[in-house]
Amino acid sequence: MTNETKFEQYQIQINAALDAAIPEKECLYKRIFEAMRYSLNAGGKRIRPVLVLEFARIFGISAEKAMPFAIALEMIHTYSLIHDDLPCMDNDDLRRGKPTSHKAFDEATAVLAGDALLNRAFEHILNNAGDIDSITTLKAMRCLADASGADGMIGGQMIDMEGENRALDIEETRQLQNLKTGAIIKAGAQMGCILGKADEDMYIAATEYAANLGLAFQIKDDILNVEGDSKIIGKDVGNDEKSGKSTFVKLLGLDLCKKRVSELTEKAVKEAKKLPDSEFLIWLAYNLISREK
Ligand code: IPE
Ligand code: IPE
Ligand code: MG
Ligand code: MG
Repeated sequence: MTNETKFEQYQIQINAALDAAIPEKECLYKRIFEAMRYSLNAGGKRIRPVLVLEFARIFGISAEKAMPFAIALEMIHTYSLIHDDLPCMDNDDLRRGKPTSHKAFDEATAVLAGDALLNRAFEHILNNAGDIDSITTLKAMRCLADASGADGMIGGQMIDMEGENRALDIEETRQLQNLKTGAIIKAGAQMGCILGKADEDMYIAATEYAANLGLAFQIKDDILNVEGDSKIIGKDVGNDEKSGKSTFVKLLGLDLCKKRVSELTEKAVKEAKKLPDSEFLIWLAYNLISREK
């Protein structure tokens, strides 16, 4: 099987698991399930859950057993996008090629759908991680909670919002990117390692791989916000500059950013080579540099 096919297979499995995890429900408050499903099923590259599944596989855990953790991470990522798009944050109209949640529904529903996905992530692990021992489940949940919280993704979003009013320097921008995007990408790799009880040195290499990949991924996201095609990328472009966002593109310019993305990818690849059976991880790192969406 080619790496491309393997990636597609993972995406198919993840999409099916997400669809089953949050079914439509006939009840007085069915709108919340519609909104949760709308954003989850809108598409999305599924990079984070793929990392969970692939690291779990490398360390001997099947996709079936790792899936509850993988899709919990995707639920949290999706919630973060719904809230990120709200008028009080980035005020975007397009996400994953469709109207954003607050456009398709309304602001209150979008806030609630995000909140509900965050809760459902942890509920889903608690209700479905039966094949994984309890201590390992708790360790993986702690990893996910830390990465998503105030010292992780949310902290990054806080800096991002403050960065609209005050120019951030390089170090502050790096911290912003590492937290808002890097933290949960790293958690994907780490959860896979935790599930497979990887040795400490493997855990460290996995973390370094994902940290470099995560930063490269976010810089590429900022490049696409300038150079990307809204129809391909499925979200609005040009808005970072309009809203005065502090990004590496603003600080370093496009050419240096592209060089930085390549360097970070090479660093990620170097770490991946320390891991067993890491051909797919290496392919993924290179694939993400050349992505157009
Ligand atoms: C978008 O993430 C937001 C960032 C943190 C860069 P993705 O590019 O992974 O978005 P989806 O999940 O594919 O829509
Ligand atoms: C989104 O970052 C990061 C999170 C939601 C945590 P951005 O605001 O830069 O990403 P896009 O461009 O809207 O996807
Ligand atoms: Mg944002
Ligand atoms: Mg945004």
